[in-house]
Parts: sequence; C-alpha cells; structure tokens
Amino acid sequence: MRIVRRFCGSSVGKKVIMSLTGIGLACFLVIHLLGNSSIYFGPSAFNNYAAHLHEFDPFLKVFEVGLLLLFLIHIGFGVSLFIHNLAARPSRYTVKKSSGGRTLGSATMLYTGLIVLAFIIYHFMSVAFAPHSSAIADVIRTQLQALPTAILYIVGIAALLVHLSHGLWSLWQSVGGSHPAYDTLLRRGALGFALVIGAVFISFPVLALMWDEFLR
Ligand code: HEM
Repeated sequence: MRIVRRFCGSSVGKKVIMSLTGIGLACFLVIHLLGNSSIYFGPSAFNNYAAHLHEFDPFLKVFEVGLLLLFLIHIGFGVSLFIHNLAARPSRYTVKKSSGGRTLGSATMLYTGLIVLAFIIYHFMSVAFAPHSSAIADVIRTQLQALPTAILYIVGIAALLVHLSHGLWSLWQSVGGSHPAYDTLLRRGALGFALVIGAVFISFPVLALMWDEFLR
C-alpha cells in the first residue's frame, strides 16, 4: 500500500497514471468518432446508431462510470502534477533552458485540458438532458446549426487536437517507450492521430453551418 502511495505521489508515477488514463480516453475518442461517423450516412443511420447504443444499457452505464473515473483520475493527477511542477519551478526553468523544444502543445497542456473539460461538460449535459421525444439527429442538428454552439464545438475540438498532439507523444516518455532514434516518428504519429481525430470531429459543425440539409 505504501509503495502505491509513494508511486502515486511521485512525479514519475503521476505521469505514468496520466499516460495510461490518457490512452483509455484516446480509445474512447476513436470509438466515439467511429459511431458519430454514421452522421455521414444521414439522420436514420445516426438515430439507429444511437438506438443500438442504448440497447446495451446496463453495459453502457458501466462504460460511462468507467469513462468518468478515467476523466477524474486524468484531471486529478494533471492538476496535482501542475502544482508539483509549480513548486519545483526554479529547477524546471533550468531544464527548460537547456533542453529547449517547447511546442504549442507542451506549453498549453493545462489550458487546452481545461477548455476540453468545459466543452465535455457542456456537450454531455446537452445530449444527456435533451428531450426524450427528440431524435438525437435533430438534437445534434439544432446544436450545430446555431453559430454560437458550432463555434463552441470547433474551439473545444481544436483544443482537444492541440492537447492530444502533445499528450500522445509525451506518454511514450512517461512509460519508458521513447528513444531518440524514433522520437520524430512518435511526434509525427501523435500529431497525425490528433489531426485526423480533430478534422473528422470538426467536419460535423463545419458541415452543419455550410449545408442546410445537414442531418435532415
Ligand atoms: C461534433 C462532434 C460530436 C458529436 C456530433 C457528438 C455526439 C454525441 C452524442 C450523440 C452523444 C450521446 C450518445 C448517446 O448516449 O446517445 C455523445 C456523448 C458523449 N460525447 Fe460526444 N460528440 C462529438 C464530439 C465529442 C468530443 C470531441 C468529445 C470528447 C472530447 C465527446 C465526448 C462525449 C462524451 C464523454 C459523451 C458521453 C458518453 C456516453 O454517454 O457514453 N464528444 N456525443
């Protein structure tokens, strides 16, 4: 028990836990993206997908609780790591100067993470508490065809893209899987993955704004 507590309290332990929960959350994103891609096949396909999802209801509840736990652990350890780094600021400054290589993603992890969190809370509340009488395709169309909500989705997903582009690279360092020989490959792989996820998710609000027949 003491070993676990010491591991969770160390900066390395926090990073490993953030990496593992981050991988879990990235897997959810891929599943969510694949499901949402049914939007491209029209409103009936999207409504059918959502209806099928709810056929697995007891299992879905367990999945949702698991997902919530992953989010809470990831956020909790993220905040704790941020505070830990703040406390170690003078030494961190020295490392930063000598190692260089700060990217937009690494410099903004906390802020992009907070934007994604705000977006998820809004998004979850808006779909979970949508009127039961409305088809999910109508709920999403109404949201994405309103300029303020479409912008909110675009900003939230753009922040997710930047967050993922750094997180998916840095996790390899945390779990000891990085090597200078393939560091560029890992960086490009993380960026490529983030760009694909971001581009497909962003295509929905963009399409909804540009095309009146979206999900009709
Ligand atoms: C335009 C893009 C998106 C669309 C159209 C969309 C659509 C949906 C829909 C319809 C649901 C409800 C599923 C149901 O229970 O019937 C849902 C749930 C959810 N979405 Fe999204 N989503 C989008 C982007 C995102 C992004 C980028 C994230 C994460 C950063 C996300 C996270 C979630 C979460 C956490 C849930 C609740 C999970 C659950 O109830 O199983 N969504 N989304």
